Amino acid sequence: MSQLSSSGSLPQIIVLDTGGQYCHLITRKIRELGVYSEIRPSETPAEELRGVRGIVISGGPASVYEPGSPQVDPAIFDLPAAVLGLCYGHQLIAWHLGGTVQKGEKGEYGMAHLELCASAPLFHNAEGRQQIWMSHRDTVSRVPEGFQLLGSTETCGIAAMGNPEKRLYGVQFHPEVVHTRNGRQILSNFLFDICGCETDWSPRDQAGKIEDEIRRTVGDRNVFFFVSGGVDSTVAFTLCLRALGEDRVRALYVDTGLMRQGETEFVSNVFESLGQGIFRVEHAQERFLSALDGVRDPERKRHIIGEMFVEVQEQILASGHFLEGNWILGQGTIYPDTIESGGTAKADLIKTHHNRVSGIQKLIEEKRIVEPLHLLYKDEVREVGRELGLPEELLSRHPFPGPGLAIRCLCEDTTQPVVRMEEGWQAPLHSVGVQGDSRSYRPVLLLEESPAAEGIHLRATELINRIQAINRVTALAASHAPVSELRTSQAYLSAERLDRLRRADALVREMCHTSGFENSVWQFPVILVPLGTAERTDSIVLRPIDSVDGMTAQSVVMPAELLEMMSAALLAQEGICSVLYDLTHKPPGTIEWE
Ligand code: XMP
Repeated sequence: MSQLSSSGSLPQIIVLDTGGQYCHLITRKIRELGVYSEIRPSETPAEELRGVRGIVISGGPASVYEPGSPQVDPAIFDLPAAVLGLCYGHQLIAWHLGGTVQKGEKGEYGMAHLELCASAPLFHNAEGRQQIWMSHRDTVSRVPEGFQLLGSTETCGIAAMGNPEKRLYGVQFHPEVVHTRNGRQILSNFLFDICGCETDWSPRDQAGKIEDEIRRTVGDRNVFFFVSGGVDSTVAFTLCLRALGEDRVRALYVDTGLMRQGETEFVSNVFESLGQGIFRVEHAQERFLSALDGVRDPERKRHIIGEMFVEVQEQILASGHFLEGNWILGQGTIYPDTIESGGTAKADLIKTHHNRVSGIQKLIEEKRIVEPLHLLYKDEVREVGRELGLPEELLSRHPFPGPGLAIRCLCEDTTQPVVRMEEGWQAPLHSVGVQGDSRSYRPVLLLEESPAAEGIHLRATELINRIQAINRVTALAASHAPVSELRTSQAYLSAERLDRLRRADALVREMCHTSGFENSVWQFPVILVPLGTAERTDSIVLRPIDSVDGMTAQSVVMPAELLEMMSAALLAQEGICSVLYDLTHKPPGTIEWE
């Protein structure tokens, strides 16, 4: 099996990144087929690629003929390596080798059917007519000399082309996405039949190699981690612990007071079971809560929390002996967060305040950092975690946002009643949505009927599309009071309301666990909203969703019996007036309400 390293030996396959959103997906699919692969910038000189068996050029949003569009070094076509261009990569091959690329009139997005018209090793064992996934405007209008047309769709004349003798291939579609039915077969043909790759990769047997690498990077120094209880930082920490021993590794967890019930104990237990005296909790609840006092606006909340994290981390780094002497910082950064180009730049921005705050940036510059997972994808990190024997309960946790319960506890400055509309009630609660590519912040529509009503999900979608004033639709699962009597009240992030939310969230989690419903959802936010009556001022929103990556999501239908039991248990809690069920998909509603 190959050495896990981006510096030493070259991987068998390099994916050249031209800025496409699927670039990481290509690399992951290749690794899933057992061949180690890494991403490089598209302009990487051919000489640096000499020795690889194959090069894949990714898709991207540009047009090849535009000045400044991502390019490849044309000398890569003269290397002994085979080349496969996908989408923009297909057009780049045509452009560089003397074919032509034409501006598309209307583009082709989503499902299409490829008809093969010639046989070629790339399509070995693939059907003659096959479902594929397209996402492009420009098209190749003439194949370069020496190339053969291999397949077309109804709207794309040159959907696949190849020069089998020189082992150069281009396809307009995306074999890396699941909707391309023979995609895995096509990639496998390229890797094994065309490039002659050998299987050299499995995340299962990486732990030992990563530990060797940790020992090399760390030398005789010690390692200090900020841990969150998430999968990445726990796996990274455990690897360092195994590589260096208990005396040389320490973990610190910041309790913000915005955590779920039992979270601090859960994390403490996990770390204490790993070793004696290696773990410490920094109690910062008061600092976080007083900074958030009286704040209603979701963006301000997020900003304050981000800043406070930075402040606490930097103080710890500066005050202790960790910035001096023999200590370096360990982090659970994974592969998608380390690539700084094209479609991955955004992911980096999102994580800035966690992994790249200024104090940490300084350590990176001084090479006083170790990131053992920097070449792995999330699913591979889970595999390594399993190999290390970490509890499945930890490895299969649902994602939980960094700002914690603060963005699941809505705040309000004023008292306002619900307003009768033709289609239901407009609740004066605002939540965040994503429409087109922009953020929206609008009131919620509340339907008086049960979330179990026939066809209600479809109707919710229709209502959101029709009513401009709202960006989210909820249904009433249960209530102590008629909807007409509900109103908002002035409420902020108090310890009392956070406790109320924590109890409700714990109850929902427990019922999802015992009923097995947790396996039917990708994530299940429970939100506290300041909507109720004078006696019971808050309500709970249930938001079970299904997703693959959190970028898009579907509202999930919960079994009626479970919903009924859950609602009754929630209504029995102090301060809770009603239980609402969020019927909104993403888009147009985000997964979190803030
Ligand atoms: P949205 O609400 O944008 O959430 O649809 C998409 C996914 O991201 C999570 N999320 C966050 N995770 N820090 C995080 O680490 C954050 O600030 C943050 N905001 C949202 C959210 O839980 C969902 O899985």
